[in-house]
Amino acid sequence: MSLLELDDVKVHFPVKRGVLFDRTVGHVYAVDGVSLSVTAGQTYGLVGESGCGKTTLGRAILRLNDITAGHVVFDGTDLAALPDEEMRRARRRLQMVFQDPLGSLNPRQNIESILAEGMAAHGIGADREERRTRILEILERVGLPATALSRYPHEFSGGQRQRIGIARALVLEPDLIICDEPVSALDVSIQAQVLNLLEELQDSLGLTYVVIAHDLAVVRHISDVIGVMYLGQLVEEAPSDVLYAEPRHPYTRALMSAVPVPDPDLEDSRERILLRGDLPSPANPPTGCRFHTRCPWRQAERCDTERPALTDIGGGHRVACHFAAEIADGTLEPVRELAPKLLGAETPAAEVPAEVPADAAAQREKGERGEKESTTP
Ligand SMILES: Nc1ncnc2c1ncn2[C@@H]1O[C@H](COP(=O)(O)OP(=O)(O)OP(=O)(O)O)[C@@H](O)[C@H]1O
Ligand code: SF4
Ligand SMILES: [Mg+2]
Repeated sequence: MSLLELDDVKVHFPVKRGVLFDRTVGHVYAVDGVSLSVTAGQTYGLVGESGCGKTTLGRAILRLNDITAGHVVFDGTDLAALPDEEMRRARRRLQMVFQDPLGSLNPRQNIESILAEGMAAHGIGADREERRTRILEILERVGLPATALSRYPHEFSGGQRQRIGIARALVLEPDLIICDEPVSALDVSIQAQVLNLLEELQDSLGLTYVVIAHDLAVVRHISDVIGVMYLGQLVEEAPSDVLYAEPRHPYTRALMSAVPVPDPDLEDSRERILLRGDLPSPANPPTGCRFHTRCPWRQAERCDTERPALTDIGGGHRVACHFAAEIADGTLEPVRELAPKLLGAETPAAEVPAEVPADAAAQREKGERGEKESTTP
């Protein structure tokens, strides 16, 4: 049963100009038509590079950002249409754990005060004693000592602060937690501990998660389903194992090819797709398929003009690419200079200079004119 359903959700931020009169001169299309469903008790991993709209979508679910269009149906209620006071009450059941554990905790409040604040606002616990008992239970669950109660955020390590952030969500007894980059600010050794804690809590408390990350490796083990976002839209979605075994969208393939494989033989022989150029501006997204300016398989005309729909290809696998089938069976070849398949690590992705032109058409023309790829070392 799905606990959360997003139907064509859009979040467009107006771009204002003018000294006396704020004129709207355009929009940032941060989230532009996302539909997905999160099953109760499962984890939905949302990945994509910086600026693709992951946080905006997470915040829109909690209505911390205004929703421009679409529906956010949580347990049968459309949150997008809920009056503010009802939304405030509904928010107890939907919590968010933020990327920056220190920035999201008030440095002047001790841990008891931080955790009790939300409980009091939502009427949880009859009095201070009852709230304290509950907080102590939760602190133990997240692996923090009772002495944490009277201490302040700066007295804790990054991993411990993230545990405090998780405890702050848990004291409100939520059903769904949106974890926005829950481990990206932490050392690699601590990341696994926090991810394991999230999994343990899910098992024991029956929680549902949306886990946001820019790193596929982070969401892989924790997610049941993964959605890949590009420039405000979902380009692929599949059960986690399926996405890893058979990524079908060129963007997912490129993201996947950047994740190292522990087996040295596989690591040497696997396909690597180097994405050229930066993410285009969400204020002026490319027409047609938004990925066409960087896609090594781009076919002129259709890709440039026609937006591919997110299409179910069976087994809960959805892909938004006109040529997903041809790319998968090899009948459509990538343009080599846009996607060098490196055998061995001759040119690690990190060494590709940032100023590589973003426009694939420019690259293609260059190739046709026989110019040497000047930006590849
Ligand atoms: N309040 C706002 N007003 C205008 N533009 C915004 C606002 N919030 C976000 N944006 C823009 O929306 C786009 C998506 O931002 P968002 O923070 O959702 O990306 P993200 O995928 O979470 O990136 P990151 O991985 O860096 O956290 C960006 O271009 C950002 O500049
Ligand atoms: S629709 Fe075209 S440009 Fe978009 S991902 Fe598929 S092949 Fe690439
Ligand atoms: Mg973000």
